[in-house]
Amino acid sequence: MKFIISSSMKKRILTGITTTGIPHIGNFFGAIKPAVELSASNDAESFLFLADLHAIIKQNDHSAIEDSVKNVALAWLSAGLNPDNTYFYRQSDIPEISELAWILGCVTSKGLINRSHAYKAAVDQNKSNNLDDDKAITMGLFSYPVLMAADILIFNATHVPVGSDQIQHLEMTRDIAGRFNHIYKNDLFNLPEAITNDDAKTIPGLDGRKMSKSYNNVIPFLCPEKELQKGVMRIVTNSLEPGVKKDTKDCNLFTIYSSFASNDQINALKKLYADGVGWGEAKKLVFNDLNAIIEPVRDRYFDLLQKPDYLNDVLDHGSSKVTPIAKELLEKVRDLVGIKKIS
Ligand code: TRP
Repeated sequence: MKFIISSSMKKRILTGITTTGIPHIGNFFGAIKPAVELSASNDAESFLFLADLHAIIKQNDHSAIEDSVKNVALAWLSAGLNPDNTYFYRQSDIPEISELAWILGCVTSKGLINRSHAYKAAVDQNKSNNLDDDKAITMGLFSYPVLMAADILIFNATHVPVGSDQIQHLEMTRDIAGRFNHIYKNDLFNLPEAITNDDAKTIPGLDGRKMSKSYNNVIPFLCPEKELQKGVMRIVTNSLEPGVKKDTKDCNLFTIYSSFASNDQINALKKLYADGVGWGEAKKLVFNDLNAIIEPVRDRYFDLLQKPDYLNDVLDHGSSKVTPIAKELLEKVRDLVGIKKIS
């Protein structure tokens, strides 16, 4: 069933980024750049937040959490996110989200969450290792979808751009919202719609698998130019000699290039392949064109890194913009459930 936005309801797009790890060019071209371009061009309200309470589910190393929050935030700002036309904030700065998560948990049946893919995968892994079903599974992991529902419902987002792995979480959010509305006989929460971008680019890593920190195959971009270059040089190719015609099909270097280069640039590289370009030379070209895009982002990143006050100010500003909205909604929720001044 499709959720229809009435024309009077302004589109409110919300998305969260779990702050684990340091962004790499796969994140940059696959998520950050397109989202920044979208937020600059459309007239919907756009909410973008750092999901640090989600991050601590899987990461217990406090300095890794701190580093990731800082680098993810700086990656988005360096890529051109304008905090003045976006609600850009940190999840943990809005305690109303956590309170709402608790209240929503009280109307969410455990059976619904038992069906969560992430939880089921963890249980299956335990089973296949002959361990107790729930071995090392925390309440944080289990209730992940409830916190995510609170993230979305606290601002009554109408649209949530997600990867296909998150569609189930959106369905659960709609279930939870509907359940709350039904129990408390109101229509406080609207049911948000997932937006999935089917032609979103998945950028392969050095070895051709999806670029991901867990495969140790990433090309970083929040780093000095030399390291970016080293990353490109490490892209795995076959061992054909210069002078031998190269195939663009199943060529990792070519696929990575295609994920950011213009059509003219892609065609030019195709021709070089046909002419038997050497891998060293091809990589040099890939690096130069990649570097031309990354350079301004990198310069801004290193500049902002020197100005921790700037980031704190941006996040404080974001929190002060969204807090009144969160407070207003939570006040209604508290009232509906009977948590209010004694009369
Ligand atoms: N679960 C999302 C992910 O891993 C991150 C996230 C947390 C999120 N809360 C959200 C995304 C709310 C959209 C809306 O990608």
